[in-house]
Amino acid sequence: MRGIILAGGSGSRLWPLTRAVCKQLLPIHDKPMVYYPLSTLMMAGIQDFLIITSPDALAQFRRLLGDGSGLGIRVGYAVQPSPGGIAQALVIGESFIGGEPVALALGDNVFHGTGLGEQLRAHTSPAGARIFAHQVADPRDYGVVEFDADGRVLSLEEKPARPRSRYAVPGLYFYDGQAPEIARGVRPGSRGEVEITEVNREYLRRGRLAVTVLERGVVWQDAGTVGGISATSEYVRVVEERQGLKIGCPEEVAWRLGHIDDGQLRALAEPLVPSGYGRYLLRLLQDDG
Ligand code: DAU
Repeated sequence: MRGIILAGGSGSRLWPLTRAVCKQLLPIHDKPMVYYPLSTLMMAGIQDFLIITSPDALAQFRRLLGDGSGLGIRVGYAVQPSPGGIAQALVIGESFIGGEPVALALGDNVFHGTGLGEQLRAHTSPAGARIFAHQVADPRDYGVVEFDADGRVLSLEEKPARPRSRYAVPGLYFYDGQAPEIARGVRPGSRGEVEITEVNREYLRRGRLAVTVLERGVVWQDAGTVGGISATSEYVRVVEERQGLKIGCPEEVAWRLGHIDDGQLRALAEPLVPSGYGRYLLRLLQDDG
C-alpha cells in the first residue's frame, strides 16, 4: 500500500499562525505536526509516500523529510495549486497510486493508542474503501457515519447540523486503486471543495465501503484549529512526560520496524542532541538496542 499525506490548505482558520508557516509544520508539543500522520502510516506498514502541499510549503517539507532515505522510506512530493478539496489529493496522486491500494491521511490528524498499527495493518488491501469511525462528543465539524442495529452503514454526511450519530470519520482513508477515478467524478460541494465524504458515499452506493470503529483506547485528535493544536500538544506532553516514550516519532518507528539500523538511528540522533529529541533517540539505543 502507498501513502499520501495531504498537507496543504490555506490555513486561514489559524491566521496569523499560518501566514508564514504551513499548518502541518507547526509544532504539536515537541515535533512538527506532519510527523504524526507520517508515523501512523509507517506503523500501518507503508514505506512509499507522497506529500501533497501548497506551492509555498514544498521547499519546507523537502528540508524536513528529504527523499525519506534517512528513515528507510521513500518520500516524493506534489503540489496542490490551491485548496480545492481533500478528494483532489487522489487525482493529484493518481500516477503515484498507479492502480494500487492507497492510504490517504490528513496532515493535521493525530492518532495514538494500543494496537493501532496492528489494526491498520489488517486493512491495507481494501476491497473498495475502508474508512474509520470514532465516537466524539460533538461530531458536527466532521464527516458523520450512521449505522443500523447490525452495524451496517446507513448514511454518511459532511458536517451535518443535526448529526445522526456520534461517530465522526477521522482523516484516514484506505482505498483500492479505483479511488482516483471516483474522485474525478465528484463535483465541488457547497463550500466549493471536492469533498472526501462524496468519494466515500460513492463507494457506499457501489456497496464497497467498509467502516471500522476505532476502539475506545485509541485517541484521535484533529489538530486543525488553535484549540486542537493546544489540546493535542497537551495530550502528547502529558503522555510523553509520564511514560518517557514519544508519540509520533518517525525515527523511532523506522528503527523499531527495521527500516534503519542502530548506526543509522545514531546518525539521525546526533545532530538533534541539543534539543533533547536526539537524546531520546540515543536513549532508545541504550534501553532497547
Ligand atoms: O479531521 C477529519 C475531517 O477532515 C473529516 O471528518 C471530514 O469529513 C473532512 O472533510 C475533513 O474536514 P475538515 O473541515 O477538518 O477539513 P479541512 O478543510 O480542515 O482540511 C483538512 C486538512 O487537509 C487540513 O490540514 C488542510 C488540508 N487540505 C484541505 C483542503 C480542503 C489540503 O491540503 N487541501 C485542501 O484542498
